[in-house]
Amino acid sequence: MKPLKIASIPGDGIGQEVMPEGLRVLHAAAERFGIALDITPIEWASCDHYLKTGQMMPDDWKQQLQGMDAVYFGAVGWPATVPDHISLWGSLLKFRREFDQYINLRPVRLFEGVPCPLAGRKPGDIDFFVVRENTEGEYTNLGGKLYEGTEREIVIQESVFSRHGTDRVMKYAFELAQSRPRKKITVATKSNGIAISMPWWDGRADAMHAGYPELAMDKQHIDILCARFVLQPDRFDVVVASNLFGDILSDLGPACTGTIGLAPSGNLNPERKFPSLFEPVHGSAPDIFGKGIANPVAMIWSGAMMLQFLGHQEAHDAILRAIEATLRDGPRTPDLGGKASTAEVGAAIEAAVRKR
Ligand code: NAD
Ligand code: IPM
Ligand code: MN
Repeated sequence: MKPLKIASIPGDGIGQEVMPEGLRVLHAAAERFGIALDITPIEWASCDHYLKTGQMMPDDWKQQLQGMDAVYFGAVGWPATVPDHISLWGSLLKFRREFDQYINLRPVRLFEGVPCPLAGRKPGDIDFFVVRENTEGEYTNLGGKLYEGTEREIVIQESVFSRHGTDRVMKYAFELAQSRPRKKITVATKSNGIAISMPWWDGRADAMHAGYPELAMDKQHIDILCARFVLQPDRFDVVVASNLFGDILSDLGPACTGTIGLAPSGNLNPERKFPSLFEPVHGSAPDIFGKGIANPVAMIWSGAMMLQFLGHQEAHDAILRAIEATLRDGPRTPDLGGKASTAEVGAAIEAAVRKR
């Protein structure tokens, strides 16, 4: 079988600490299921690289990555030395846009053995997906400043919602909901306050819903939707959201399941015209970097999603079972109330993958 060509980009901060754990589990699963891996480690797309060269990535970054099956990515950002909008627009947001990774798929799940910050919730109560639009919406560099430095200073920041971009994320989310037993879709909106884009976004959801009559759809304003993530997380199945709303929901959801250190993501180009990118939802966590205590589960689960996307369902399932077993009764990092190191948790999950 042709090897899977994967670029591994640790990036900054704890990205560098969780990446080795992700790779050891990936290798274990690959060995167990006879998958050949061809991994290319890459040191750019990091603030260190920026400080050395004046840019986040070399000019030929796209050529270097274009032939890869996927990118396995840690986290980028070190605001103490490089402003975040420079590091992120110079790396991660470029990947998402230029590789047309228009779906950001972010599962949210409460695991057995993980203390839930919401009273009375048990595994099974929280198990849904946030489908986040990933290439447009509120994330733009369009706009400008007027009368800068004066009392009349004005800042304009534009949003962009295209029919193409909106319909394709709706379609993906509706298809996903259709494939799940509960057949529910929730559309995040704010059509009461954002007077142009959001009523239109709701209209695109209605138009898509016409083709999926068996799905139960509800539209919820983002404010009450956030409240319901906390108060009634069991009512969600698939939640589709614009770029910014999806960003917020995909930290809030995992926080409700114990820690954002568990949350994985797939930045998908479903047509596989370009490589997709798999990374934890969390960032570089400067506050804990260097202590060896970052939770590696988000990185490891992201690796499982990568294998699944590339057609290796069994390997994905084996990693998921290993994560479940370790969270149930294995070592845990301090964000989950434990004392274990990043490497101890990685080693436990690796061992569980190797055990048949
Ligand atoms: P963050 O996700 O890095 O950290 C938020 C909090 O969660 C911190 O207290 C941190 O210690 C904790 N945390 C995060 N991941 C954890 C893990 N695996 N285990 C245990 N605890 C964990 O968010 P931030 O502080 O807002 O951002 C820090 C930097 O990361 C910034 O530069 C930001 O722009 C960047 N960032 C990058 C990404 C990405 O690369 N996808 C995502 C989010 C933030
Ligand atoms: C994420 C991150 C990024 C985003 C930042 C770092 C630009 O928060 O992947 O969720 O907002 O998309
Ligand atoms: Mn985020």
